[in-house]
Amino acid sequence: MSIESVLQENRLFAPSAEFAAGARVKSLAEYQAMCQHAEADYEGFWANLAREHLTWHKPFTQVLDQSNPPFYKWFADGELNVSYNCLDRHLPDLAHKIAVIFESDNGTVTKVTYAELHRLVCQFANGLKSLGVTKGDRVVVYMPMSIEAVVAMQACARIGAIHSVVFGGFSAKSLQERIIDAGAKIVITANGGVRGGKIVPLKATTDEALALGGCECVERVIVYKRVVHEDAPWTIGRDMWWHDLVKGKPETCEPTWVNAEDPLFILYTSGSTGKPKGVQHSSAGYLLGAVNTMLLTFDYRPDDVFWCTADVGWITGHSYVAYAPLAVGATQVIFEGIPTYPDAGRFWQMIERHRVTTFYTAPTAIRSLIKLGSDLPKQYNLSSLRLLGSVGEPINPEAWMWYHEVVGGGRCPIVDTWWQTETGSHMITPLPAAIATKPGSCTLPIPGIMVDIIDEAGEPVEKGKGGFLVIKKPFPSQVRTLWKDPERFKKSYFPEEYGGKYYLAGDSAHKDADGYIWIMGRIDDVLNVSGHRLGTMEIESALVGNSKVAEAAVVGRPDPIKGEAVVAFVVLKGARPAGDEAKALVAELRDWVAKEIGAIAKPDDIRFGDNLPKTRSGKIMRRLLRTIAKGEQITQDISTLENPAILQQLQEAV
Ligand code: WTA
Repeated sequence: MSIESVLQENRLFAPSAEFAAGARVKSLAEYQAMCQHAEADYEGFWANLAREHLTWHKPFTQVLDQSNPPFYKWFADGELNVSYNCLDRHLPDLAHKIAVIFESDNGTVTKVTYAELHRLVCQFANGLKSLGVTKGDRVVVYMPMSIEAVVAMQACARIGAIHSVVFGGFSAKSLQERIIDAGAKIVITANGGVRGGKIVPLKATTDEALALGGCECVERVIVYKRVVHEDAPWTIGRDMWWHDLVKGKPETCEPTWVNAEDPLFILYTSGSTGKPKGVQHSSAGYLLGAVNTMLLTFDYRPDDVFWCTADVGWITGHSYVAYAPLAVGATQVIFEGIPTYPDAGRFWQMIERHRVTTFYTAPTAIRSLIKLGSDLPKQYNLSSLRLLGSVGEPINPEAWMWYHEVVGGGRCPIVDTWWQTETGSHMITPLPAAIATKPGSCTLPIPGIMVDIIDEAGEPVEKGKGGFLVIKKPFPSQVRTLWKDPERFKKSYFPEEYGGKYYLAGDSAHKDADGYIWIMGRIDDVLNVSGHRLGTMEIESALVGNSKVAEAAVVGRPDPIKGEAVVAFVVLKGARPAGDEAKALVAELRDWVAKEIGAIAKPDDIRFGDNLPKTRSGKIMRRLLRTIAKGEQITQDISTLENPAILQQLQEAV
């Protein structure tokens, strides 16, 4: 999205009176009153919410501890259990309410009630305990989308173990790195995942990861039997079936009460350097963010059927699949498959089938479904929908309008939610009955979230200007540190250049005349490919890990479907290839990156040069590479360039 398109977008969609009538926050005035309350009594505001929305085993007396910035603590002397808050507390009233409607890749539906989910979690938690897993131990979860993935996460929470979910699309190498960094004692996986009719060999990949070495910390691999066919050998003494582990285990399990600040999970995400960051979240503050936004952003109502399409391997799947819907006692849909199988009507068919009221997905999915079948939604009855959500990347106004008109029938507000792995829950989003929306803007912050946009000097920008997005005050669901790397935590989010005061989100943003926020994109070397965060350095180090590659530089190129596409400029150790040889090398390097990181990181375009464009001091001129990647004419000053001749080479597609 460019500044020009933002400045031209002035359509305004006010919430309907009908929607507002039943809503939690009914008007702009109510929203403003909440914001003012938070301004006037910040700690009191959050303390009230923490008492109202969470069930405490031991009530807290302290609210925000700022004694050691930026390592903030919330509710630090309180005790609770996250799984208790998601399950047990609903049992008196909601035992027979459906918690999860699971639809498999081929359309089989399984439903579990809160009572059943509670039993599944307790039995599995008892299973983990029987293997010696205790509070603070790390458990890596490498699972397909399933009820069991949620059970695994909730069971860890129940016994105070720290889960680290690794997205099933990540490679053996990525899995190995995360297992080692987290020091995981247990890996939970499945003998296969099923997506679009194809089997994803998760157990085989787990074996491969462990065989790469350095994973001596892992004592057990627990395997959920998802497919009949077993593709991986069994390591006796290490591997164990999920169903064998839970057999005969008691159906209740006393929750382990943890401190509010005890880590609930670590989730690895991409940053500016090659090594992924282990974002560490707390128990109470994280859960509060999830519940609060489930109620405010999604305006949760007890008869809702909520569907967030994100995989549990990403933060969206943590907060809005594994935790928030359960914490409020909602019925949610969990989907194993992909939006285009058996055809591009799958989402719409599922909305009709399960009478989904609240649908939350990513712009990239919307854009690809527009392309594949813009009329398909009309073939289904989507009248159950009352609210639509968007997450993960900027949504372009055209996709927003289609979502609004074709999917939402012009009737459903759209909540465009800006947030990050590090923020744990929504930060900037319209509250659907209170804030009029503009296509492409995530609008205004959640009450109690002190967002601003600052310039290079650290001063807030005026309306109509752009700059760096910051959060000025610590908030409960904020990342606590990077696992085993507090220094990197400080440097990444509270850099000295900005006085170390504010949380620097890493996004640039623009504030329009009404004070609405428009996210423009990352300011660091992070790409957003189909809503997934990828570090350019991560892909570069994967490429140079190939024995044929001498040097590589990766940049993003705007892409109409994926948001950004990955373009790699590669210098080989041997001569620059041409013709079929170049084509074969492109294929080889794409597969190599898929093996090193995962298929999501495969470069869309690879260009070969005898060198990269560098300044005399040897710095790669990335701005030039971005221009070349876009196929645009170079208008930048290239007088400092050591080797202008290679620009020509890099412009030639293979
Ligand atoms: C981007 C995903 C514009 C942003 C929840 C952020 C967005 C990064 C939006 C975090 C949005 C996320 N509009 N950009 N509504 N939501 N982003 O950690 O650049 O995977 O910094 O968290 O995605 O990605 P992450």
